[in-house]
Amino acid sequence: MKSKAKALYIHIPFCRNICTYCDFKKFIYNQKRIDDYFKSLFLDLEQYSAKKYKSIYIGGGTPSCIDYQNLKRLLEYLKNLLDKNFVEFCIESNVEDINENFLKILLENKVNRLSIGVQSFNEKFTEFCGRKHTKKQAIENIKLASKYIKNLSIDLIFAFPGQTAKDIKEDIKIVETLPIKHLSYYSLLIEPNTILFSKKIENVDDVTQEKLYRCIYNNLKKIGFKRYEISNFSKFKKYESYHNKIYWKNQTYDAAGLGASGYREETRYVNNSNILKYINKDFSKDSITTLTKKDIIFEEIMLSLRLDEGLNINNFNKKFGINFIEKYKSQLNYCIANKLLVVTNSNIKTTLKGSLLLNSVLELFLD
Ligand SMILES: C[S@@+](CC[C@H](N)C(=O)[O-])C[C@H]1O[C@@H](n2cnc3c(N)ncnc32)[C@H](O)[C@@H]1O
Ligand code: SF4
Repeated sequence: MKSKAKALYIHIPFCRNICTYCDFKKFIYNQKRIDDYFKSLFLDLEQYSAKKYKSIYIGGGTPSCIDYQNLKRLLEYLKNLLDKNFVEFCIESNVEDINENFLKILLENKVNRLSIGVQSFNEKFTEFCGRKHTKKQAIENIKLASKYIKNLSIDLIFAFPGQTAKDIKEDIKIVETLPIKHLSYYSLLIEPNTILFSKKIENVDDVTQEKLYRCIYNNLKKIGFKRYEISNFSKFKKYESYHNKIYWKNQTYDAAGLGASGYREETRYVNNSNILKYINKDFSKDSITTLTKKDIIFEEIMLSLRLDEGLNINNFNKKFGINFIEKYKSQLNYCIANKLLVVTNSNIKTTLKGSLLLNSVLELFLD
């Protein structure tokens, strides 16, 4: 069946260095393996060769660390898959990979959004993460990148062990001085199969996490960054991530590359995540899950409540032939009474408290 997806995700699973907290699909840099991977990736991409996308996102791993020959070939190929009115062509980058040559390659190939993994401007915490850049490098390279690409996003992490509200405020003070348009602020999650987990480092307790999150929310608001999704903030609506909003609005998207996930025709799939198989051009899937109507309804609620604009009642009713207010009357009454949700004329949204307790709110809608 021909995919109608407006967005394409491509996974590049290589990094120069492995961070202490990361459990994403990635391997340490190896040029021969990268050359082999790219040969397979171009074959994998052939299935989309006749398509035009509004958004293409290259994530990883670290797409910015790839040798320029492979990087250029990939961008040149993808450039041809962009719709003439495309919205975003985004690539993830580590701080230390940003230089004039890299930025020129992006610009020449229509990349119009750069997402930079900073994690913190405090070297105590970047060292804890095992990141290799300094605070000075992060500041200078963000400024340099802004000369080439206007739509700059950075990733920060909070809830490092020992991190205080003062530390957060210091990071946000630096953000205020930089030409950043968008910010993703994730709480540190200590996952099995990471260096932090093997060192028995534990997640910060919920009360501290909530205090730090409120500090982020309030201080970013003061400097003009509006939250539009639980972990995402932007200066002006036009810099909200078009690509990620396709995920959160439960729309379809295509995927290429090792272990990448896609969504089409009510089916979620995960590409093969065995690199040797992938290099041998085995493009089988690790999983293909056909969603039931019940699954899709729950996903719709779960994803839209992550967004500040919330769930649009009319659209929901039309899409599923259900009266949302009737069906979830008891859950809504409970959440409204406990100031977790608010209902406007057209939308249901979480309050700040509701967004902090989102998992508990969602459990109520799992029938
Ligand atoms: C997987 S990385 C890929 C992009 C690039 N290599 C980088 O490190 O910026 C994307 C982002 O995921 C976030 N991330 C990954 N693992 C995380 C974890 N365990 N807890 C919180 N954030 C995490 C980091 O903020 C990181 O910038
Ligand atoms: S956080 Fe980014 S750079 Fe670090 S290991 Fe994960 S993918 Fe690689």
